[in-house]
Order: sequence, then structure tokens, then C-alpha cells
Amino acid sequence: MLASIEQHGNIVVAQRDFSWGMELANIAGIVARHFPDFNGNGFYPHPQEQALQRELMAVPALRQLSQMIGRAKARGMAITNLGLSALCEAQRNAVLYAIALCRGFPTSTDQRTKRVAWDVRARQTTPEQARFVTFSERVGGADMHTDSSFYPMPEEQFLLYVVSAARCNGGASLLIDVEDVERELQKTAEGRAAFELLQKTPVPFRVPSVYAAKDEQLEYHQATVFHRLDDGSLAMRWRYDSISKGLDARPELGSPALLAALALLNEVIEKQAPRFERQLPDDTLLWADNHRTLHGRGTYTDPARHLIRIRISNTPNADRVGPSGIAAD
Ligand SMILES: [Fe+2]
Repeated sequence: MLASIEQHGNIVVAQRDFSWGMELANIAGIVARHFPDFNGNGFYPHPQEQALQRELMAVPALRQLSQMIGRAKARGMAITNLGLSALCEAQRNAVLYAIALCRGFPTSTDQRTKRVAWDVRARQTTPEQARFVTFSERVGGADMHTDSSFYPMPEEQFLLYVVSAARCNGGASLLIDVEDVERELQKTAEGRAAFELLQKTPVPFRVPSVYAAKDEQLEYHQATVFHRLDDGSLAMRWRYDSISKGLDARPELGSPALLAALALLNEVIEKQAPRFERQLPDDTLLWADNHRTLHGRGTYTDPARHLIRIRISNTPNADRVGPSGIAAD
């Protein structure tokens, strides 16, 4: 059993229930031996990631952490008091990379630098730059979405580590179980019709670009909003602004019924579906299923709020199709 467990449907909050002992320095040492440089402490997918994964999985504390997440059979899990707050940035990010690699294969967030560990915090910007600043780089809220929805292979999982929670009483982490979205839709005839339509009709997800204003070519990916995983469970791709921009660019792919179904689903997601909402304290690790939950963020104003995010694919990077996610979500 997990210590101090709190269960909200498929979302779990628990305290770390194992000791790192002397292993934090050992883990950072293993990672350091495999990387000639840390890419500004952001790391990059290691060329021999499967060999490094095997080596890290042999570290008892990392195995225990992986088992702790697996044991809860949750779709989202917040582990408080993770125990990394006394580490310097390089060691902390090395341990986070190691944790991520024990769950799967961390992907690059930034296509230019290949950086894996992404700083989610507000950037100082001019009004002109602010037009291109994304959810992860500004204060305020973030609508519910799945990450990398506009790419062929959205990562199955992600991690967020809270370095410094917002001190302004905002910035709550939000998670919605996809099953709860379906349950809400099933309550009405329009909801049931929308669910049917959005399972069978591909929609264009526009790729957000920090250079969008200069882009000659629009990039988008067509996929259905709802689909079934191999085990029969329901999964989603969702980013309403990306679909709206995709349909603006390709109006022939839309229809009044499709637009109404998408608007209804957005309403259900933003206003009706039950959600896990929590201001996670410093030194919390949030793991989530990126296919079977939606995530978002409550609004905040404290520019010192700082999280680290790592996306994790179940497929080794060498076998992935198309680009990985970007900083934009
Ligand atoms: Fe996101």
C-alpha cells in the first residue's frame, strides 16, 4: 500500500514512500558518465538510451519509484516530498532525466537544441515577443489539452516537477480523466452524437509555430479527437485552439455538425467534466498519462513559478515517427 494516499478517481496523490539513501549522487554520476555535456542541464535523448535505461533500472530507488507509479494503476499521480529540493540544477535535472528514462524514452521538446528537460516558467518579453510566447512560457492559465496533439505520435506520458510553486495562490495543476469526458457526453443526445462524430471524423490540428506570422506553409496533422487504445480504453487528442486554427486554414474539412460537436466538447471539458485541481507544493513530481487524461493550469501571476517538464514516449526515439512535441504546450 502507498503511504498517505489520496485517490480522486484515477488520479492519486501520495508521499514518496521509499528512501533515496545515498543513491541520488549515484544516479547523477551514472547519467554524467553517459553524457559528454548536459545541454545546459536540459539533456537530450541519449543515443544509447536503452542501455542507459537498463543501467538506471538497476538502481533500487529508481525501481521503487517506477513501481510506486505502476502500483497505483493511476492515470495521474502526484508524489509529494520527492526529495530533490536540496540538489543543484545539474544534479536535479540528471535525476529527473533518470526518472523519466525509467518510465520510457524522454523526447526532445526543443527541435533546435533537442533539450528534454523544459523549464515551464514565465519569460520576460516585449509586447511584440509576447505574441509568440506559449502556454509554458507565460503567466496566466492554460486551457485543457493533451501534449503534442498536432504530431503523428503524441508521447504517452509526461512528468512535471515543481521547483517553485506560485506564491500568489494560483497556478493549480488540472487533470481530467478522458472517461469523465465521455461520461459527461453520454448524458445528452447532442453529447452522444458529438462523441460518435468525433470518433470517426479526422480533424486538422494546426502545428503552433513561434514563427507563425512568417510561415508560408501551414503545417497540420489530421487525426480523430477520440480513439481506442489496444487495450480498448478511450484516448484523446485535444487542443481546441489548434483544431480551430486547422479548420480556419482548411474549412473544407469542417461541417456545421463537426464545428458544433467540437464547440460542445470544449464546453464540456472547460466547464462540466469533473477535474482534479491542486496547487502542487515545491518538490512534487506529477506523472500523467497524456493519452487518457487532459491537463491544464489555473491562472496565476507570480513570475517566479517554476516547473520542469519532460515528455516520455513508450517507443524508443530511434523508432518514433515525425517530430516530438514542442515547447508550445
Ligand atoms: Fe501541456
